[in-house]
Amino acid sequence: MRYITFALAKGRLAHQTLEVLEKIGITCEEIKDKSSRKLIFVNEDLKLRFFLAKANDVPTYVEYGTADIGVVGKDTILEEGRKMYEVLDLGFGKCRMCVAGPESAKELLKHGELIRVATKYPNITKDYFYNKKHQTVEIIKLNGSIELAPIVGLSEVIVDIVETGSTLRENGLVVLEEICNISARMVVNEVSMKMEHERIAKIIQDLKTLYNN
Ligand code: PRP
Repeated sequence: MRYITFALAKGRLAHQTLEVLEKIGITCEEIKDKSSRKLIFVNEDLKLRFFLAKANDVPTYVEYGTADIGVVGKDTILEEGRKMYEVLDLGFGKCRMCVAGPESAKELLKHGELIRVATKYPNITKDYFYNKKHQTVEIIKLNGSIELAPIVGLSEVIVDIVETGSTLRENGLVVLEEICNISARMVVNEVSMKMEHERIAKIIQDLKTLYNN
C-alpha cells in the first residue's frame, strides 16, 4: 500500500487539523512535539505521511501531487489559485477577508478613486477591486504587519484578514468592506482523488460524519 501524504500549514492550523484527524482515528504522535523542527512525519501502521509546509506552499504541494491532501486557509487557496479539489470546510481558523483603513477612507471607496491598497494578498485584492468593484487601484504587496501601511501613509487602505479585530482597533483602523469569509479547507490532488479514491473518500466521509454529529 502506498502512503497517503498530507501537507499541513505549519503552526496553529496544523495542530487544529491533527486534533480533528485524531477524532477519526488518524494519529501521528511525534508531530505533537511542538519543540521539534522536523518537517516530515510518518504513521507506518496507517501508511500515512505528513508534511509541515509554509501555508502558501500547501496548494503547490497538492497541485503537483507531492501531497495527496492539504489543509490550508481559504485565503491561501484563493490567493494561490492552484488546480485541485476543495472538498471540505473544516470550520476552524475562521476569519474575514476585509478592506480596512481609517474611517475617512470610506469616501475614497465609495467614489471609486485611484487609491493605493497594501496587502499580502495581491491576487485577491486584484480580483475584488477590478472584477467585483470595477475600481482601478494600485496594489502594494507587503509581507506582514499590513496595518502599518495606512498609518504611515504608504496606502489609503489595506486588504487583510480580520479575526478578532483587535489589531485594527489598536491601530485606529476599521473594517470598511467585507470581501469573504475564511476558514480552513481540505484540498485534494486531482489525480490522487481518482487513484486513491477509496482511502481518500473514506477520510472525507469520516470527517463529514464527525462534523454532522
Ligand atoms: C494577521 C492579520 C492581521 C491579524 C488579524 O496577522 O494579517 O494583522 O492577524 O487578527 P486580529 O483581527 O485577531 O487582530 P498575523 O498575526 O498573521 O501576522 P502578520 O501581520 O505578520 O501577517
